[in-house]
Amino acid sequence: MIVDHDGNQRPWSIVVVRWGKTVLGYLNRCPHNGVNLDWERNEFLDPYGVRLMCGKHGSTFELGTGRCVEGPCKGRALTPIALTVLDGDICVVGVRLVEDDTPFDE
Ligand code: FES
Repeated sequence: MIVDHDGNQRPWSIVVVRWGKTVLGYLNRCPHNGVNLDWERNEFLDPYGVRLMCGKHGSTFELGTGRCVEGPCKGRALTPIALTVLDGDICVVGVRLVEDDTPFDE
C-alpha cells in the first residue's frame, strides 16, 4: 500500500525481476500514461521473454535498466524500486510513503 497526499491508502504495485542472482524492482506504472504494465494479470514480458512490456500500447523496457527501448515512451524509464534479498526473502528498501504527483503523457 502507498499513502496519498490526503492520507488515503491505495494498492502499490511493483514488478520484481529475477535475472540470475540479480533481483530488480520497478514500479508497475508505464511512463507513457501511468497504467499498470501487465497486459494480462501477472503477465509482464514481451513474447520473447527478454523485455518488460506494457500491455496498453506495447512499449518495451530493458529488464536490467527499466529503460524504454521501443514504443511511445522510448527514452523514458520505469521507476526503479530498491530491493535486497535477506535470508532468501526479497525486501523493499527505502520506500517513499507519499505518492509521486509527476504527470504523465496524454
Ligand atoms: S500506456 Fe504504456 S505504452 Fe502507452
